Amino acid sequence: MDDDDKLLSGDKADDAEASIEKSLRPQTLAQYIGQDQVKHELGVYIEAARKREESLDHVLLFGPPGLGKTTLAMVIANEMQVHIRTTSGPAIEKPGDLVALLNELEPGDILFIDEIHRLPKIVEEMLYSAMEDFYVDIVVGQGPTAHPVHFPLPPFTLIGATTRAGMLSAPLRDRFGIVEHMEYYVVADLEDIVKRTADIFQTSIKPSGAHEIARRSRGTPRIANRLFKRIRDFAEVADQDAIDEMIVNRSLTYLRVDQDGLDETDNKLLRTMIEYYDGGPVGLATIAANIGEETDTIAEVVEPYLLQIGFLKRTQRGRVVTIKGYQHLGLAYPSNN
Ligand code: ADE
Repeated sequence: MDDDDKLLSGDKADDAEASIEKSLRPQTLAQYIGQDQVKHELGVYIEAARKREESLDHVLLFGPPGLGKTTLAMVIANEMQVHIRTTSGPAIEKPGDLVALLNELEPGDILFIDEIHRLPKIVEEMLYSAMEDFYVDIVVGQGPTAHPVHFPLPPFTLIGATTRAGMLSAPLRDRFGIVEHMEYYVVADLEDIVKRTADIFQTSIKPSGAHEIARRSRGTPRIANRLFKRIRDFAEVADQDAIDEMIVNRSLTYLRVDQDGLDETDNKLLRTMIEYYDGGPVGLATIAANIGEETDTIAEVVEPYLLQIGFLKRTQRGRVVTIKGYQHLGLAYPSNN
């Protein structure tokens, strides 16, 4: 094989990998696993909008990262049989960027804005009329020639996704007709997701292996799929034909994922709160500074799951480690608590 051939086969391998990645995303509500309440409601609104031949009302998706908000937006577009353009709050820096995106929409199309809580204020304000009455007023020209232009838009659907319910301004939140909260996945649903992923990767997995990955994925499909891929590497190198509980356990030890699915950041947070602050109460910013993480990462990624599984609780004076949190680290719960 000469160098050109090698290059070609490398590209082909990359293409195959990319197309597998793409097929990991479910295309329809029926293929989408879990989030039953959200799926059921969206199914009704989609069917109604399609029957009336209208655009779907604007949709706001709340929930921790990695639960499939972007995937769900793509499923909605597919079910509505419309195009979707995806972007994110921080990527839209000025009103002109938003106008450029809106200008490309056809009637019924979807504009998906991830991290919508991070839109610049001036862009957010422009969205109000776009969402409510399908127009934007823009200023064209500069200095003495500057003049306002009324710019009508086709009826479209805005899908916004955010990890921070409290960070969205009321005027923006109120303009979404459909608001859905996504919850962490239960283990049974994550098991199905892992089995589906294994199928797509043509890898055999024992039920006990799928269960163990699911149990230790922090309720999050993105984590389950990431762990699956790394465990598949370990299994492949160990010449093991099927992923079972033992190879999962061994791989997760290497990957420093503990018995409850917590990683080093989770454990460092709990340990720091206990060792330096007697288990709390501690404020978010203090915790972040102590463990060397961004406050946003703690608030959006780390803390929500620890609250969900009851290792932390929120009080008016800050976060507190619970008895379950102490037990997880094998530490005695102080008797004065
Ligand atoms: N892959 C990631 N999330 C998924 C979901 N909810 N359903 C099916 N496949 C997925």
